[in-house]
Amino acid sequence: MATLAQVELKPVALAVAAPAVIEVQDVHKYYDLGETKVHALRGVDLKVKPGEFVAIMGSSGSGKSTFMNMLGCLDKPSSGRYILEGTDVSKLEKKDLAAIRNRKLGFVFQGFNLLSRTTALENVELPTLYAKVEKEERLKRAKEVLELVGLGERLDHFPSQLSGGQQQRVAIARALVNKPAILLADEPTGNLDSRTSVEIMQIFQELNEQGLTIVLVTHEPDIAQFAKRIVVFRDGKIRHDDPVRQRPHAADVLKTLPAIDED
Ligand SMILES: Nc1ncnc2c1ncn2[C@@H]1O[C@H](COP(=O)(O)OP(=O)(O)O)[C@@H](O)[C@H]1O
Ligand SMILES: [Mg+2]
Repeated sequence: MATLAQVELKPVALAVAAPAVIEVQDVHKYYDLGETKVHALRGVDLKVKPGEFVAIMGSSGSGKSTFMNMLGCLDKPSSGRYILEGTDVSKLEKKDLAAIRNRKLGFVFQGFNLLSRTTALENVELPTLYAKVEKEERLKRAKEVLELVGLGERLDHFPSQLSGGQQQRVAIARALVNKPAILLADEPTGNLDSRTSVEIMQIFQELNEQGLTIVLVTHEPDIAQFAKRIVVFRDGKIRHDDPVRQRPHAADVLKTLPAIDED
């Protein structure tokens, strides 16, 4: 199995004054429902530096997904600016947004979102196809990231032949295959049991230690503790933004949890 060190991730500038990889300035978002308008984001400012690992929390309806969709270039702010690795993406057209999304961002969702009639390997290879990577390189990279998440022996399995945790690992591999600058995850452990959730957080912590910037939404405080920083949304605004003190190491927590048979 390839170790994390063997897989090339974007190098990280370790200087304290590293420029932000994400810079959000006074962002508002309105959803226009004809008669009414929903003011989902009400003046959000956030800076995320390379190598950070941020957990976003907040009750249902507080604007977390709206914010993540904007970070992920799936939607634009109604006003304010979003600067992603130095590019003001709030001004870009749909086509350019899609290109940036494919190049710079990896996504992991609660529901895995894998293609069901497609093997693990093919699922992971798909984003490299859009990125116009050469066939040989595509296969190599897809295998590499699947090995990285511990699924080197499951390349030809279909999603239905994999457990929930394994499917989420395929989704993580798919998110990494184009070597993104940032990994965005919206409730990635929402459908998983507690041990499997910690296994997923172990992968996130290892990737983050290799320099990957991660922004994750979760409503579970235990999961948020594995991040380095917790940002709390309420009513479309950031109400708290604090570093995590005494952050647990997911690998150590796993040793204290009973094993589950999985094959
Ligand atoms: N596509 C949409 N159209 C209209 N209103 C929306 C849409 N998406 C979210 N909202 C509203 O925006 C607010 C924030 O929602 P959301 O970002 O999904 O919150 P969270 O992810 O924290 O639960 C809520 O009041 C929600 O009803
Ligand atoms: Mg949500």
